Amino acid sequence: MQRRKSNGRLGCAVVATVTCIAYFPFSNIPLAADASQPAANPSQSTGAPAVSTREARAELGRKLFFDPILSSDRTISCASCHKPEFAFADNAPVSKGVGGALGTRNTPSVMNSTARVSFFWDGRARSLEEQARFPIENPVEMNLPIEQALERLNADPYYSAEFQRLYGGPATVKSLGSALAAFQKTLETTNSPYDRYQLGDDDALSPAAKRGRLLFIDKANCATCHAGEDFTSDRFENIGLYNGKELNDRGRGAITGLPQDDGMFKVPGLRNVALTAPYMHNGMFATLREVVEYYNDPDRFVSDSINRDAKLDKPLGLTEDEIDDIVAFLESLTDDRFRKDGK
Ligand code: HEC
Ligand code: HEC
Repeated sequence: MQRRKSNGRLGCAVVATVTCIAYFPFSNIPLAADASQPAANPSQSTGAPAVSTREARAELGRKLFFDPILSSDRTISCASCHKPEFAFADNAPVSKGVGGALGTRNTPSVMNSTARVSFFWDGRARSLEEQARFPIENPVEMNLPIEQALERLNADPYYSAEFQRLYGGPATVKSLGSALAAFQKTLETTNSPYDRYQLGDDDALSPAAKRGRLLFIDKANCATCHAGEDFTSDRFENIGLYNGKELNDRGRGAITGLPQDDGMFKVPGLRNVALTAPYMHNGMFATLREVVEYYNDPDRFVSDSINRDAKLDKPLGLTEDEIDDIVAFLESLTDDRFRKDGK
């Protein structure tokens, strides 16, 4: 298989945030040397920024990602919900924003998002750069008007100097989005047991995970939607979690206004999925086993869904052992840096 993903440069996913900063690879880059490089002021250069500038921007983005300065009461950072130890997702069905406000959707992982073509469960943002202002302004997340966020950054000696150095001016919506995106683009993972198996290490997967892999592709039909290196088609699909009643999030339909899109959500990638419970746009399933049990017979869970994809019409007929095998396969997608057993 041709591998397109570059090797992830995440240095510190499993450890606490504070230690994380110390281990982060970008912290080794000498800042003084950077500042002396001509491309460090990209507003005066053409083409893509030099590697050193890209890395310095990612480092600025990392600081911003972990800094509560972007929330109205200075208590919530991006990492309050996108927690490093859960593959930059949250372990609660819905996360708490400022003042304990609750949203309505489950916090997805921001890892492995470099190749994505839309963001949010309903795809309403088209790039990571564009996405960044939404959580800052969202009243149930960080609740800070973007102008105020920029004022704070430009009044802060460190941030104002860094934006000047790396973007040639004060922080703007665009440069703030760019820095946060640059950091998130470093969060690619490519070293899981599954990856090693794909590269020819036959022992990297347990017999159960190998059986699960075949079931995932064939009998259970998962790969028709969860395809490619990050296990997503990047399309919107309706797997039946919308009935217009207690399950009333229209998802993509609320963005396009088309009734046939009601109940469609972005197919999530599945790398590190064992760490990102609970699952689905609303966090309704607590475990991967429950997820697979759902797919095995969706009507048992939601019998009155609207617009459910025809591929899910017939129960899959998976045995209990086969369900376990698919779960074992999903667990093999966890990056080595998250594995405490070192295997
Ligand atoms: C209060 C919790 C919370 C905070 C704080 C938060 N997020 Fe999120 N994030 C979410 C939720 C919930 C979603 C899904 C929302 C949706 O789909 O409508 C999300 C979605 C995303 C996505 C889209 C991922 C995908 O796969 O589609 C990105 C990227 C992201 N957030 C980055 C950030 C950044 C950057 C910050 C800080 C500036 C941030 N988030 C702050 C909860 C949060
Ligand atoms: C028709 C397309 C489709 C098929 C087939 C499909 N999925 Fe999904 N999958 C999705 C969509 C869309 C979502 C998000 C749905 C939602 O939140 O309402 C999803 C969500 C998930 C999640 C939750 C991920 C998270 O971060 O919350 C897992 C795990 C998952 N699928 C695994 C599987 C497995 C295993 C199979 C096969 C048994 C499968 N999927 C078959 C489209 C599909």
